[in-house]
Amino acid sequence: MKPNTLLDLLSDHRVHSGESLAKQLGVSRTAVWKQIRKAAAEGIEIKTIRGQGYQLVTALDLLDREKIVEKLAKVSQDNVDVTVLKEVDSTNAEVARRLLAAAPGMPVVLADSQTEGRGRRGRNWSSPKGQNLYMSMGLTLRGGFEGLSGLSLVLGVAVVRALSALGVQGAGLKWPNDLYAGGKKFGGILVEIQGELQEGQVQVIAGLGINVHMTEAVAVDQPWTSLAKHWPDHEWVRNDVAATVINAVRVAMEQFEIAGFSGFREEWQGHDIFLDKPLAARDGTLSGTGAGVDDGGNYQLETDTGLVSVMAGDISLRVSV
Ligand code: BTN
Repeated sequence: MKPNTLLDLLSDHRVHSGESLAKQLGVSRTAVWKQIRKAAAEGIEIKTIRGQGYQLVTALDLLDREKIVEKLAKVSQDNVDVTVLKEVDSTNAEVARRLLAAAPGMPVVLADSQTEGRGRRGRNWSSPKGQNLYMSMGLTLRGGFEGLSGLSLVLGVAVVRALSALGVQGAGLKWPNDLYAGGKKFGGILVEIQGELQEGQVQVIAGLGINVHMTEAVAVDQPWTSLAKHWPDHEWVRNDVAATVINAVRVAMEQFEIAGFSGFREEWQGHDIFLDKPLAARDGTLSGTGAGVDDGGNYQLETDTGLVSVMAGDISLRVSV
């Protein structure tokens, strides 16, 4: 993303005179004033101190490609092509376009906001500007379509690992694709298959939406939380979350290609929010107790007649009351 230089200069929260801002930006003082008004219109509060200058009030957490790349492990730096956009229809759609263009490196696209953010089952993914992480990665995996079984669960494990590396514990996974904390959703994963290349290589797009700073949500129809709401003592920086997740996904993909989902099963189950809960599936026609996942990543219910696996299709599991 092209850095918003006025905000970069103000991001130290000190008072800056109009003159010095104008000088550093190479524009007139009127142009600085216009930029200040534009930022204010976008909800960024900047105090005008008479005779002194301007001071940023709102806490800013700007996405910055350089800062993300700097924090990537060396091996990720060499293999990943990170792009940060101010706005896009959907980062998944943007990665799809980049995969078609066959640019070198694993494409990773982040955007500050999405105009058509998409969730699972054709739902919309609320994507307010500047608050959360909207990130998609183009992954190429060997082993054909069968090899993809459990991939989205593995991505969930990668996010939990990343959060743990950032110093917070207790994130939960709700089968198949939701990230939970304290009984509320803070993120979701959308895996879309792009196509098969030669020799059983499959291209998939892994989209991750993680609520980072969000404190209000419009049109979200389920209990939700954010990293900052659930872990308020941690200082959340979107660039750090992004880089840590990219590193974790890269490591997880290597492990997944060698061991498949079975190599993650136990770890996934350690975060299963359905475990031992009374559940209903298949429109309420099947009920039982949550019993974790099988080696293919399908969810299992302990029923009166034994273990029944619920396929990783679009069957939703509900905690029955
Ligand atoms: C879900 O329904 O829980 C999955 C939500 C996935 C949202 C992310 S945000 C980044 C990427 N781009 C999209 O349009 N969707 C995914």
